[in-house]
Amino acid sequence: MDIQALGPNPLREGLRLERTPEPCVMIIFGASGDLTRRKLIPALYNLSRERLIPPGFSVVAFARRDIGTERFRAAMLDGVNQFSRSRPAQPAVWETFAQGVYYLQSDFSDPAGYQTLGALLDQIDRERGTAGHRVFYLATPPSAYSEIIRQLGASGLARPSGSGAWSRIIIEKPIGHDLESGTELNRQVAEVFNEDQVYRIDHYLGKETVQNILVFRFANGIFEPIWDRRYIDHVQITVSESIGMEGRARYYDETGALRDMVQNHLMQLLSLVAMEPPVAFDADAVRGEKVKVLHAIRPIHRADVPRYVVRGQYGPGSVGAENVPGYREEPGANPNSSCETFVAMKLFIDNWRWADTPFYLRTGKRLPRRVSEIAIQFKRAPHLLFRQAAEGLEPNVLVLRIQPNEGIALRAGAKVPGPTVQIRSINMDFVYGLSFGVEQPEAYERLLLDCMLGDSTLFTRSDEVEAAWRLLMPILENWQERPAVDFPNYPAGTWGPDAAHGLIEEDGRRWRRL
Ligand code: BG6
Repeated sequence: MDIQALGPNPLREGLRLERTPEPCVMIIFGASGDLTRRKLIPALYNLSRERLIPPGFSVVAFARRDIGTERFRAAMLDGVNQFSRSRPAQPAVWETFAQGVYYLQSDFSDPAGYQTLGALLDQIDRERGTAGHRVFYLATPPSAYSEIIRQLGASGLARPSGSGAWSRIIIEKPIGHDLESGTELNRQVAEVFNEDQVYRIDHYLGKETVQNILVFRFANGIFEPIWDRRYIDHVQITVSESIGMEGRARYYDETGALRDMVQNHLMQLLSLVAMEPPVAFDADAVRGEKVKVLHAIRPIHRADVPRYVVRGQYGPGSVGAENVPGYREEPGANPNSSCETFVAMKLFIDNWRWADTPFYLRTGKRLPRRVSEIAIQFKRAPHLLFRQAAEGLEPNVLVLRIQPNEGIALRAGAKVPGPTVQIRSINMDFVYGLSFGVEQPEAYERLLLDCMLGDSTLFTRSDEVEAAWRLLMPILENWQERPAVDFPNYPAGTWGPDAAHGLIEEDGRRWRRL
């Protein structure tokens, strides 16, 4: 659909003007990697194109490779032309943006590099009016995080450089590899930065539809009263991907789906759906409620893992009519790998709102299609007046579609037109793009802007990270003790191993067909 062709949209009229941050410098460590070219620079370019960040905004790319500013700028332009949601880059906008992009080659452990960085930042402050405001961005492999944080502390760069100046740090996931390393990283960060300077990024929280979970729940009077165990039978959260490794098997083999997706994205979705209403829409209140959900999840003991958690790994198969190799044949993967590419699990949240209401979660690579959604499955009507006519009628389901076709659908029963009473399930559908008639900003745009504005509501707090790890540790330990013997156990292009169906079917329920 060509959204522009829809013309002005009355739903967007009269919206308040957006906030603009003060000019600052974003220092991207590891800027020669893929994330910068695919996500960060296209997001910053779009913010600048939409005038959401001021002209003085600047970027210092800090990386090991010897590239130089001119070549780096050219590579970034190429990135925008390939990956930006608005492309190709508009020459005038890009020119202005690129004038504030600098490249600094240094080893992450070389104190001299940080001194040169300090001098460059002073120069940018003078020339571009950035007034000592800094955002440090860790876009390196996680193994470099500790060293960079230490150097930022030792060189004095982490401290705001003058009165009114601020400095913040954005950290990409994974925050550690397990509870111990995650806690240790949080500790190292806390030695150099205060928690209110720290922005742990989970890009799912930047997705419009994920933020809409909160708006939908708490800005409408009709959903909250029925949002609990009395009316809801169960909740299904699915984040399925059709892609395989895309050259990332080396990273993935050490990580697996539980760490890559469940520890962060799925736990965040679960918290947003299950949390209590916060007293305010601010960082402390929202994150305080989210972490309470994580604390209320019933721990899965190591010995019980097989009852609640199913793991899978894809073998060769076909996705969308294309034959694809199995995980173990992906370049970079260990040919005997016991790394999971699929996880399904059943969780209970032991509090008054949710006691005994199962939350079923599933995520995997090489599933039939890319779909992320949260389905709230309501209980059946207590007394079915239309028993005969209602064969095939499903209980109400509210689906929050995160991607693609972002929107919300409510499934309800309706009478089939005609002289007899026949009932069928129909969908009442709200499609984001159609209703608002605008292209959705990328998650990174919103998150980078929020960090520059000093708003950490959509970033993960240290206690959330640790609570999520604590929950997953027995699973990781069980799997480590008992490497899977049946891998691969689902062909690419299917909805995961049979046991994943068993997990929900033994409760008399089924996964939604997507
Ligand atoms: C990343 C994971 O965090 O999220 C990837 O590391 C995954 O493995 C990606 O593919 C999914 O993000 P999205 O926005 O495409 O759903």
